[in-house]
Amino acid sequence: MQQLLPTAFHHLLQMHQQSRLLWQNQLFKTSLEHQAVKEVPEDEKFSFNYQFDLLKLGAEITIKGKLVRLVSGDWDSLDDLGNIYKSDVFSKPTPLADDTWHTDEHFGFQRIGRVNNSLITLCTEIPEKLAVTEDMVKPFLEGMGLSAALAKKKLFYVDYAIMEGIPVKSGMTVSSPIALFYHNKKNRLVPIAIQLKQQPADDNPVFLPSDPKYTWLAAKMWFNLADASYHESVTHLGFTHLLMEGCVLATHRNLSQSHPIFKLLAPHFLYLIDINGSALTTLISPDGWVQNVTAMGIKGLFELIQRKLETWRMDVDGTLPKELESRGLLDQTVLSGYHYRDDALALYNIINSYVTAYVALYYDCSSSFTNDQEIQAWAQELVKPRSQGGCGLLGVPGEGSINNAADLVCILNCIIFTSSAGHAAANFAQYDEYGFPPNYPIAIKGSLPTTKAALTESCILNALPDKAMTFEIIVIAKILSSLGTNKLGDYEMKYIYDPKAERVLQRFKKELAEQSQRVKTLEKTREFSFKWLDPEIVPNAISI
Ligand SMILES: [Fe+2]
Repeated sequence: MQQLLPTAFHHLLQMHQQSRLLWQNQLFKTSLEHQAVKEVPEDEKFSFNYQFDLLKLGAEITIKGKLVRLVSGDWDSLDDLGNIYKSDVFSKPTPLADDTWHTDEHFGFQRIGRVNNSLITLCTEIPEKLAVTEDMVKPFLEGMGLSAALAKKKLFYVDYAIMEGIPVKSGMTVSSPIALFYHNKKNRLVPIAIQLKQQPADDNPVFLPSDPKYTWLAAKMWFNLADASYHESVTHLGFTHLLMEGCVLATHRNLSQSHPIFKLLAPHFLYLIDINGSALTTLISPDGWVQNVTAMGIKGLFELIQRKLETWRMDVDGTLPKELESRGLLDQTVLSGYHYRDDALALYNIINSYVTAYVALYYDCSSSFTNDQEIQAWAQELVKPRSQGGCGLLGVPGEGSINNAADLVCILNCIIFTSSAGHAAANFAQYDEYGFPPNYPIAIKGSLPTTKAALTESCILNALPDKAMTFEIIVIAKILSSLGTNKLGDYEMKYIYDPKAERVLQRFKKELAEQSQRVKTLEKTREFSFKWLDPEIVPNAISI
């Protein structure tokens, strides 16, 4: 297994090994055979009921699937595929199996309100490598010229340069697309050009909405293959589950349980080590789910995480307002309907108020930071190179030495936001996205289309996973989308007893309740639903 995995994963394993040597209390022990922390603090272990429910859910779905004979042969038509949701196998029907999944409006919304919402970028000029001409896209700009659309901030792009040359399983292909989107007069984001490889070439056409129906649909599916590959490896596993595991380890190694910052963070670490242990031994193992059903397999998955790790900065990528600013999308008047941004910003600001007030209770001058040896050691470990057992994170405010409240608050915001809202946004719509493979494929048979020749429905069906593979994808997506823990602020374990801190926590809960009402009100009029950042269903921690 070790030879299969690139550097990022080895760094994680090294961290586990180092931790065994470093931790005085030996709460965590590590193992190369299982790539997971062996003993987890009692407070963060799976409860019996939680673990039991997950196993039960998987078993029930599998039995039902066998009863209705979903698990062999190929699909006869896209309608045939959609029919599985009309059986009672799944406890809820999926809206993606209806007639809207293939529309351009739905495809546009997948960039701003589904599981992978942080790639869309304001387009200020057409990227040189995207071979789009004014004549090509003018028919889709509602009478506007290209330069007017750019000036009015109506054009956006998603660029998957990071996917170029990524390892794939034998016989499989992934795309490295760049696509242009238009925010139309109905406030909907729609794709207007898709190039499936990075550099223009005769065999790399720019696909357009005016192309033959199934050719355009195939271009969107190949784009979504890159999007899904990136989502599962980087957005979800790498930069919520694994990134936060590093922060959990650094916290346990350096902060005592009586430290106020430990008490603030601990509720947001619930079950993380356990769920990562399960994932590393079942889902991401050499014969596990990722290797079986995805085009990249685990080698590509960890290579992508490694590539992102080389540029990820806590003060930009891990700090929502800065991250939005870097994509030209902090201004909420640009790209209205970007529900993820709007709801995530509101939550970020509430978390920021909570953390700021909490930190102010315990640190009132610069010497209170410099005299706190535990917090200094914690900060150092966040930046210490992974080769030396640290997290090796870039852009950590203070660069390993905390002297002011702003730096500490920024780090804590990143950890709490990522563990709660960041993971919720990446996780809980997985069933809706992956549960209907044409909508969000993680593997496509065949190779990238190189011409605009008209394709047929059979071409699309032949490229999809067969019934057995589809069923496997659906079962895992269903389990991974399960909600089983308390809402944000409603902590499973009580760590905070200080009356002043309790008052800060009560205010946090009140603001979350108000935000929940706001989201519920907004949802009533939203054409495309985005309920995943309603604080009432955002868990405290990464528990699934
Ligand atoms: Fe997750």
